Amino acid sequence: MTDMLDTDLPSFPMARECPMHPPAEYKEIRQEAPVSRVRMPDGQLAWLVTGHELSRQVLADPRMSSDRTHPAFPLALTTEQRKAFQQNSRLSIRRSMIGLDAPEHGPHRKMLISEFSVRRIAALRPRVQEIVDRCVDDLLAAPQPADLVEHVSLAVPSLVICELLGVPYEQRHGFHEWTRKLISRRTAPEERRASADKLNDFLEALVTEKEQGEPTDDVIGRLIARNRENPVMTHDEIVGTAILLLIAGHETTANMISLGTVALLENPGQKAQVVADPSLLPAAIEEMLRYFSIVESATSRVATDDIEVGGVTIRKDEGVIISGLAADWDDSVFENPDQLDFHRGARHHVAFGYGIHQCLGQNLARMELEIVFETLFRKAPNLRLAVPAADLPYKDDASIYGIYSVPVNF
Ligand code: HEM
Repeated sequence: MTDMLDTDLPSFPMARECPMHPPAEYKEIRQEAPVSRVRMPDGQLAWLVTGHELSRQVLADPRMSSDRTHPAFPLALTTEQRKAFQQNSRLSIRRSMIGLDAPEHGPHRKMLISEFSVRRIAALRPRVQEIVDRCVDDLLAAPQPADLVEHVSLAVPSLVICELLGVPYEQRHGFHEWTRKLISRRTAPEERRASADKLNDFLEALVTEKEQGEPTDDVIGRLIARNRENPVMTHDEIVGTAILLLIAGHETTANMISLGTVALLENPGQKAQVVADPSLLPAAIEEMLRYFSIVESATSRVATDDIEVGGVTIRKDEGVIISGLAADWDDSVFENPDQLDFHRGARHHVAFGYGIHQCLGQNLARMELEIVFETLFRKAPNLRLAVPAADLPYKDDASIYGIYSVPVNF
């Protein structure tokens, strides 16, 4: 590394100057050293990878562990918050595929892979269209200005994932609130622990009910049945998997709907292109996924061996943040990354990660985004923000970036 004193190291996470762009330091850091040191809120040092090719290299390296209970795993939390997360014996999310390494990871993922295949997700399209139609109609029936997040961004993916998993949608206020608290850096340690417990207890009860009753025809019910025939997961791991799917299934897509809608409203030329030719939407969505790369620090790892990356040696037991957002704004790969260009062919972005943990729900997310943008701009051609985009409440405090509310007129 350099001669830099530890105290001079940049802190992670870094602040954004423009809510639609990554922190400006990423570009400078990448140019200087695409694998460099940062200081985490708990005082630990970690490596930050900001180059696109290097990010893929690190994410594909089997010597990089996803074990979130490792003391050096970069969590972007203070010491107290970290303790509350890591010492919480009831939060089984730690025992789900996202925190497992090979060879344990593969069998867990295999239990669910068929549920999220392209074919399976395509078959859900008519039902998702019905859900989106209903949510957009709700928005248009609400007094103006109405909140896009409440009526559409959060409602659509929550309804879809609840129906898929067999989770009662009436319980959404609970799991929305607990998820919000769990992913926010502003949440006090005790509150974080309480939210984790509540989320855990909620899904623990649901899984237990499904295990004891008649088999249910939903993802969790089928997972339980599959696991009976070919035991791979413990009861706790099934609960952990249900928590992972519920959080990942609603919070991510919700934020992409909000950010994508704001991006289209702020870029009328691009909006006109997709409205005139909806067949451009899949490419537009890849570009929006690249542009926002909202799940940034989830793609962190801890080295299980000394590893040479981009001219530096990452030592065993050192934490590494692979910033998808920095990687997807690497201008040696995506020219003029600040321009939303639907024709650039952005599919090699790392917004869904890379390697064995690459997002299991990506086909579902793409389909939901496509149907929402097509339906929203067709049914509400005059949709507009009720406040300037710069004044929206962006989720600067959260490990999944997004917007808390988006007041719109139509
Ligand atoms: C993993 C992003 C939607 C389920 C991931 C990862 C990223 C990501 C970056 C990799 C984490 C890592 O490497 O440690 C996103 C984004 C989404 C989205 C940007 C929406 C736009 C969804 C949806 C689901 C889902 C709708 C559905 C249920 C999962 C699961 C994993 C995962 C289960 C863990 C996979 C594994 O460890 O093998 N996601 N996700 N995601 N995502 Fe998503």
